[in-house]
Amino acid sequence: MTTQPYRILCVCLGNICRSPTAEVVLRHYVETNHLNVVVDSAGTSNYHIGDLPDYRSQAHARKRGYDLSVLRGRQLNTHDFVKFDLILAMDEANLTAIQALYDTLSDHERHQAKAKVQLMSHALNSQLMIADPYYGDAADFERVLDQCEQASQAWVDLFKRERIGC
Ligand code: 4NP
Repeated sequence: MTTQPYRILCVCLGNICRSPTAEVVLRHYVETNHLNVVVDSAGTSNYHIGDLPDYRSQAHARKRGYDLSVLRGRQLNTHDFVKFDLILAMDEANLTAIQALYDTLSDHERHQAKAKVQLMSHALNSQLMIADPYYGDAADFERVLDQCEQASQAWVDLFKRERIGC
């Protein structure tokens, strides 16, 4: 019998900077730890549907060995609450937008929805916001990677403690 993977969706505003970075970093951590977890990402906005990740996110990630080039922007939709076990918001505004979309679900969809919605920093026992680097500089893109790596290690530790994806 094959066990269904635990499904995680990383969410930011544009799905071109933070959440694609979080997707690829978290996927690396769960794969390295042989966890049965799949990771995807989406944006709360429709600004960058079909777009490549921001070239700066790609370049900074590539320096650490992460390849973002196959990803394309997509918008969060109501089916994601059914499809995913865990939705990770990069910041408080994303969390509010995700909650607002949840509030539009029909009773039927709500019945099927299983996703827990939390901040990416939740596993760090912190309210840390992964700040939008879009109008920032190189240090802001590096900080996103640092924070995604720290949070991903904390999620892996939590999954192992709770026997998720094991
Ligand atoms: P992200 O960053 O939410 O981390 O993907 C942004 C990307 C694009 C925009 C805003 C934030 N934008 O306004 O186009």
